[in-house]
Order: sequence, then C-alpha cells, then structure tokens
Amino acid sequence: MHNPWRRTSIAPGDLKIDLKDYLLSDPYRPGEHAIYMPEAGGIWTLQPNTIFSKDWLEYTVNEYGVKVDLAQIFMRKPYYQHPGAHVDIDQEDNLYGGGLNWTLDPDDAEMVWYDTPEQDPVYTQRSHTDRNKEWPLESLTECARCTIGKTPTLVRTDIPHTVDMNSNERWLISVRFTWLKTWDQYLNTFNNWIINEELA
Ligand SMILES: [Fe+2]
Repeated sequence: MHNPWRRTSIAPGDLKIDLKDYLLSDPYRPGEHAIYMPEAGGIWTLQPNTIFSKDWLEYTVNEYGVKVDLAQIFMRKPYYQHPGAHVDIDQEDNLYGGGLNWTLDPDDAEMVWYDTPEQDPVYTQRSHTDRNKEWPLESLTECARCTIGKTPTLVRTDIPHTVDMNSNERWLISVRFTWLKTWDQYLNTFNNWIINEELA
C-alpha cells in the first residue's frame, strides 16, 4: 500500500484565537464539544470562522482552490492510549478519506495506520460531525506510522488509524475541506504542494 500520509508545503492555518485557552476556558460550548475528559484528552469541532483568520480562509480558496469546511481539534494527554483504531465516516455513512493535520507544539507521538480487517467494526459517534467505525488494536495489522508535527501533513482517514502517544501533551488541528471526500481527492487537490513522497 502507498504511504497514507504526505508532507506538504501548505501554509499552516493562521489562528485568530488562543486555541488552548479558547477550548479549556469553556470546553463545552454548544455545537463544538465532542468529548472532553480532562485526564485523557478532548475532541472539538470548530467552524472555520471561529478558529482561522479571514485572510487564511481566503488564501486557501485563492491558492489551493478549496474551502475550509471545519476544523477538528484533537487533544491528548501524555501517554494516553485509546484501545481502538477507527476509520472516519461522513453523515451518510460513507468513508471519509483525508484531512490536513498539524500540531500546535513539537510532537513526539506517532499516527499509526492499519490494514482494514475482515471483521465487522463497532460504530461510535463522538459528536454530530465526528462519527466513525473502530476495531480493537489487538485485532489489527500495522501498515505505517508517522510523526505529524508542525508541518501540515495530509493524512489518510479511510483505513484504520490511531495515535501512539508519548510524553508530550498533543494538540492537533485537522482541517477538512468542502468538496473533498476521498483520499485521492485530497492527494490530487494538493498535488503541487506535496513535498515528500517517501514510503512510510
Ligand atoms: Fe480519524
């Protein structure tokens, strides 16, 4: 399988808020909160205008020809390990193939991908905009891993994936774009800005 991630030269989103302060000062804002477990981590969904500057949102349209749909924020505490790996699915139950991810701080965790297994997954719904199917890690075979870090990186989300945490608390922004659904669409759209074709 081709590697399920690509480094890019895409400009990281210009934030208009102090993201950690915004989320932690009121973790349960209506429509944004998915999960918040102070000891483990949190997942939030933010509208583009809440998190990104108007300039950066216009820049993505003009430079890349894409419109930001939403931003998923994933926070995990050091060494927190979720027991399953999941695939992303959309509101219509179709696989959702990609995202543009980067971390706020230096990253010592690894995103890990697995082959899609034969057995049926368990459905989970963490929020209106964060639904997925998952499998226990022990039932899966790893196929790739990558430390995402602060460089915007395209990641594949329609095969099982999870994060192996390390000693750093991790805040990751995952941007999803309107009109893009499949991993191939993400690759094709950002083809000119992919800077690393190495196999994982
Ligand atoms: Fe995911």
